[in-house]
Formats: sequence, C-alpha cells, structure tokens
Amino acid sequence: MYENESYISFVSRDRSLGPKYDNEIRCSGRTVIVTGANSGLGRETARELARRGGKVILACRDLKSAYKTRDEIIEETYNKNVSVKHIDLSSLDSVAKFAHDILSTEKRLDVLVNNAGLMHISKTRQLTADGFELHLGVNYLGAYLLTQLLLPKLIQSRPSRVVNLTTVSMNKANIDFADFNLAADYDPYNAYPRSKLALMSFTQLFNQKYKAQGVTSYAVYPGVATTSLARGLSQSTISSAVFKPTSLLMRTPENAIQSVIYCCLEPGIEEKSGQCIKDMKVMKWTSELSNEDSLRLWKISQVWTQLDKYRQFCNIPAAQDHVIK
Ligand SMILES: NC(=O)c1ccc[n+]([C@@H]2O[C@H](COP(=O)([O-])OP(=O)(O)OC[C@H]3O[C@@H](n4cnc5c(N)ncnc54)[C@H](OP(=O)(O)O)[C@@H]3O)[C@@H](O)[C@H]2O)c1
Repeated sequence: MYENESYISFVSRDRSLGPKYDNEIRCSGRTVIVTGANSGLGRETARELARRGGKVILACRDLKSAYKTRDEIIEETYNKNVSVKHIDLSSLDSVAKFAHDILSTEKRLDVLVNNAGLMHISKTRQLTADGFELHLGVNYLGAYLLTQLLLPKLIQSRPSRVVNLTTVSMNKANIDFADFNLAADYDPYNAYPRSKLALMSFTQLFNQKYKAQGVTSYAVYPGVATTSLARGLSQSTISSAVFKPTSLLMRTPENAIQSVIYCCLEPGIEEKSGQCIKDMKVMKWTSELSNEDSLRLWKISQVWTQLDKYRQFCNIPAAQDHVIK
C-alpha cells in the first residue's frame, strides 16, 4: 500500500480494534457538518453524531447515495435532524457555494469534520476542475478553503471544533514547494500522504491562529479501516488477492471513528488542539514541517484557493487576521 512497506505488515501493526469512546455525551443543540458522509468513516461519524442527538449535515458530491444514507441514518437513530447538501471538493466554486449556503441558512456550526478524501485513484496524474493534482485538490485545498470560509460561523458558535482525517503515512511525506502541484514528479503513493501532511500542517497552524478565538482543530488517524478508500488499489500494484484477506485484520468503520467522535465531543481536550490523535491519545509524527514551511504552505493555499475572491462571494468582510504575514 505504501512505498517500501509491505501492506500486510502495515495492516497487522494496526489490527487492534482500538479503544471505544465510552463517554455517552450528547450532541444535542450542536450542528455538525461531515464531508464525504455518504460512505465509510464519514457515514459512520454522521450516524453516531445523529444517534447522540446532533443536527447533522451530510456534505456530499453524490446526492443519490447521500439521500439514501440520510434515510438510513434517520431510520437507525430516530433523529430527523439529518440533512444533505451538495459539495464537490474538487471544485473551488462548489466549495464556495456550499459555504455560502451554510453561512446564510445555518444559525450555528459547532463542528466541521473534514472527512472526505481519496487515495491512489489513478497511476496517472489527474486534475481537479481548478487544475490541482487530485489528492492535493480534494484532500487538502478543498478542505482548506471550506474551513476558511466557514470560519466566521465557527467563531460565532465558539467553542467549536475542526476535525481533519489524516493518515500515518504522512510520516513518509514531505512538501516539495518547487513541485507543489506534482507536475514534474507524480507518484500516486506520494500524492496521498503528501496531501495529508499538508492537512496536518494546516491543523497545527489553524490551532495557533484560532484557538484563542475559541475554535480548536484536531487531526485524527483512524487506523486502517474497511471502507471504499482503497477502491483504486485493485487496479494498481496491490492485487485484490492480497487486499481482500488482509481486510479481515482491519478496523470496522465503527471502531475506526471512535477518535473522531472523541475529537468532536469530548470536553476539556483543548490542550490536544493542533495535534494528531490516534486512539484518543496524541500520536507522535515525524515529518513535521518547520514553522516557516507551514506559513509558506498556508500562504500558497490562500493564493491557490483564491481565498479573498471566495470570501467576497460569501459576503465575509475582509479581516486582517486571515492574512498571515
Ligand atoms: N479507511 C482507512 O483505512 C483510512 C485510514 C486513514 C485515513 N482515512 C481517511 O478517512 C477519510 C474517509 O475515508 P474512508 O476510508 O471512509 O473512504 P471512503 O469510504 O472512500 O469515503 C470517502 C468519502 O470521500 C468522498 N469524496 C471523495 N472525493 C470527493 C469530492 N471530490 N468531493 C466530495 N466528497 C468526496 C467520497 O464520496 P463518493 O462516495 O462520492 O466517492 C466518500 O464519501 C479520508 O479522508 C481518508 O483519507 C481512512
């Protein structure tokens, strides 16, 4: 699955089901957005937050699948406060339209779960509508723009949280600013971890910047779980003959989202803000960017996502604080 690493050893290191988040704290009165909530970990996260009484917005690109998921969640949880809104994270316009809708219709936003993601979708480099390499565009830049545009609502609803799904393979990644869009040297096995490393860096810097304003941020490594994320693998170097048996060792979505729910709801974890959480504990990671590189990445992301233009589109007043000097 990951370069220079046996997929089976990677999975077996992670085969523990992980601890259960056993605080039955309710989510009533809180509004939560979960991106990519129509399948896998996003679906399970949305279902659990709905079971706990939250108002849950499923932010999805496949509306048919999303409405089916919404109906199933309502049936399973008896919580009718579950709705669907369209977002395609591979399009900046789509992200901005979604954010504009939320800003103008929702009274509050307590938690944003940046869950949507894709991995190793193709051996050849694919681009988003805006010309970004697909992993970078969806897993990082889409989440970056969405979070920035929803920030006024998160600040207004403080204390509020941003929860970003990441992966342990970010430890093997680095950011090559000279080839940020992977135009010269595309490798699908680097593209995914690199996009997640960028999201991790965003989580850290976001914490430095907005924790004081009441918005905390957490990255979560859920472990290796049986979802559709690896759908591209059977066509790539890992054959389904290897992949299917090892799936018996993986976490179920229910096991895998325990730390996501913890980061969404557990009171008093602000000291963990800005860090990566695995099994409800801070996970050490080794590929940390210098503060200088994190700032550089943030500035590039502001420009590449056309943040100022989309802030205007969303009627967000220009604010000094969103421009990092
Ligand atoms: N499963 C694991 O072992 C594992 C490990 C570490 C981290 N993660 C992270 O966990 C998150 C959830 O993944 P998963 O395992 O649950 O995989 P999944 O079942 O494939 O779910 C991914 C979700 O992201 C959505 N998505 C993909 N591209 C999108 C786009 N352009 N716009 C909007 N939504 C989009 C998918 O929508 P469609 O249904 O329309 O494709 C789907 O709902 C990902 O960020 C992943 O990187 C997973």
